[in-house]
Amino acid sequence: MGRKRKNQREEEGKEEEQGEASSSAAPNPKQQRKADKSPQRQNLHHGFEPYPPSKVYRLVEPGPVLLVTTGSLADATHNVMTIGFHMVMQHESPPLIGICLGPWDASFAALKKQRQCVLAVPSVEMAPVVVDVGNCSADDDNDGDDGEETSKWQRFGLEAVPAAKVKAPLVGGSDVIANIECVVEDTKMVSKYSMWVLKPVKAWINPNKKPGEGGKMFHHRGNGTFVVDGEILDLKDRMVKWQEFQD
Ligand SMILES: Cc1cc2nc3c(=O)[nH]c(=O)nc-3n(C[C@H](O)[C@H](O)[C@H](O)COP(=O)(O)O)c2cc1C
Repeated sequence: MGRKRKNQREEEGKEEEQGEASSSAAPNPKQQRKADKSPQRQNLHHGFEPYPPSKVYRLVEPGPVLLVTTGSLADATHNVMTIGFHMVMQHESPPLIGICLGPWDASFAALKKQRQCVLAVPSVEMAPVVVDVGNCSADDDNDGDDGEETSKWQRFGLEAVPAAKVKAPLVGGSDVIANIECVVEDTKMVSKYSMWVLKPVKAWINPNKKPGEGGKMFHHRGNGTFVVDGEILDLKDRMVKWQEFQD
């Protein structure tokens, strides 16, 4: 939220509080309009308040935050970035994952050229670094103190290790939960929605950080705040129709 807008909201909040505090005085029309918008007075729709469609991503975004690596480890053109927008599209035949990665990212050109990438699943221990990685670009001026160009890998102490089937590297390290090597399956939605349909071709899991067994993913709530995996609710016995997806 912009600072100006935030200040305005704070002012409105104060006015609202003041309006309520001086309830014996006749409210001016502005105060009255504000009071009418308060949750208590607002007309609920079968128990629900309206929510702005422009913010609904905050309700559905929280899949785990991922790192995406592109380029080639062999010729040191590998890059890494952060994403929060992605979705599972198909279980199998083949498995498919959609990611939103736009032309504002330097990684976009590499993905377009090589049609391969790695999706790494970081654990919560990496959250600060993952957020920092998503707040800088390979296109920025990345010269170090000695004038040498530094990559995000160097600056953030991330380990690039060879993948088996793609040129982009896996993200190594004991705090990485998993790495998924992918090839681009479909680009039909890229120009309109920056949506790439990816096919996982090889995947790796850290045996010491399996989700729910020591590995906790973290999820972007869309506004710079995050939720961390918590309690596991085991309702397998109710999944009578979908047993093929349990193991
Ligand atoms: C928490 C978080 C989530 C992000 N989600 C996305 C996303 O879903 N898609 C995207 O294109 N960029 C996303 N970004 C922004 C990119 O990571 C950012 O543009 C980055 O600078 C791209 O790096 P590059 O230019 O070196 O490719 C996100 C950033 C953060 C911090």
